[in-house]
Amino acid sequence: MSARTMRALRVFSAVVLGLAVLALVFPGLAGAVGGNPQTTLEPKSAVATMIDGLLDNIVIWCVVIFVIVEGALIVTVFRFRRRPGGPAPRPIHGNTTLEIAWTIIPAIILAFIAVPTVQTIFKVAAVPKDALQVRVVGHQWWWEFNYPTLGITTANELHVPAGRNIALELESMDVIHSFWIPAFAGKRDVIPGRKNHMWFATGAEGTFPGQCAEYCGTSHANMMFKVVSQPQAEFDAWTAQQKAPVPVPDSTTLAARGLAIYRTGLCVACHQIDGVSFGVVGPSLNKVATRTTIASGIYPNDPEHLKAWIKNAPAKKPGSLMPNMNLSDADVEALVAFLETRR
Ligand code: CUA
Repeated sequence: MSARTMRALRVFSAVVLGLAVLALVFPGLAGAVGGNPQTTLEPKSAVATMIDGLLDNIVIWCVVIFVIVEGALIVTVFRFRRRPGGPAPRPIHGNTTLEIAWTIIPAIILAFIAVPTVQTIFKVAAVPKDALQVRVVGHQWWWEFNYPTLGITTANELHVPAGRNIALELESMDVIHSFWIPAFAGKRDVIPGRKNHMWFATGAEGTFPGQCAEYCGTSHANMMFKVVSQPQAEFDAWTAQQKAPVPVPDSTTLAARGLAIYRTGLCVACHQIDGVSFGVVGPSLNKVATRTTIASGIYPNDPEHLKAWIKNAPAKKPGSLMPNMNLSDADVEALVAFLETRR
């Protein structure tokens, strides 16, 4: 090999190794400085850790293959190139040893990737029997969370007791969505007419972002949710609050006027409130004031944002199935006063 070829090879190797190291280290660095809350590279549950471990395994194999294949390519390009005044490169045909080698080696590598992959698929699919059941229903463009054993239905904020196994049954009311909590579990398609399942358990407490991960129409990107992972006692308090009856507002209050508007308006067709309405098209508003966000996690749940939302929902969330109902400011004000009592 000529000195020039050697030099070129050394430069190439350094570049490839540098890129490989960056690819492996950079996600870790990004996480260390705060990173992206939607990262899958900082798993917070056993399921997410399994998936992340599988990714690491496959990335290492890919880096090794990349370095070897690209290295061989560069060596070949430099070493066997046509030189000025030299003879034309000679094509060769057939080399049994090489052909056997490049059939067997990929087969071995694929086996090293396939075995842990299949093991992980089975572990991730085995929903534990003692898990807390939650039915997840995808709607354009929000998430319904229903706890059949607790008798609670809520939207866009999934409360779970930390440390407990959580089993999710996923369904869709309209089109295909994909349910994804990056810190806790992989993605799972949410398909109309079919029940899919996933599970996770996390000891981590806090609020973790989730997102629809399958294009499902205009506001796909706005189909967000949160997972609130809390100690069992806090979860029990939340459960009790969700089930506690809400007193009817005093007839002289603005909230009572809001209830009257709610009852006689279009709201009842889509939303549910205990003893008032039974709509299932939109999110349950029974305990709407206990949620921290509205419009599937886009806006904070405060009177200002609620007013703007009720006033003209499609202007706040493109494609919103809740129409602009052309309500007067006074009516919107009253409705918000009523919804604020739902806690
Ligand atoms: Cu639902 Cu994208």
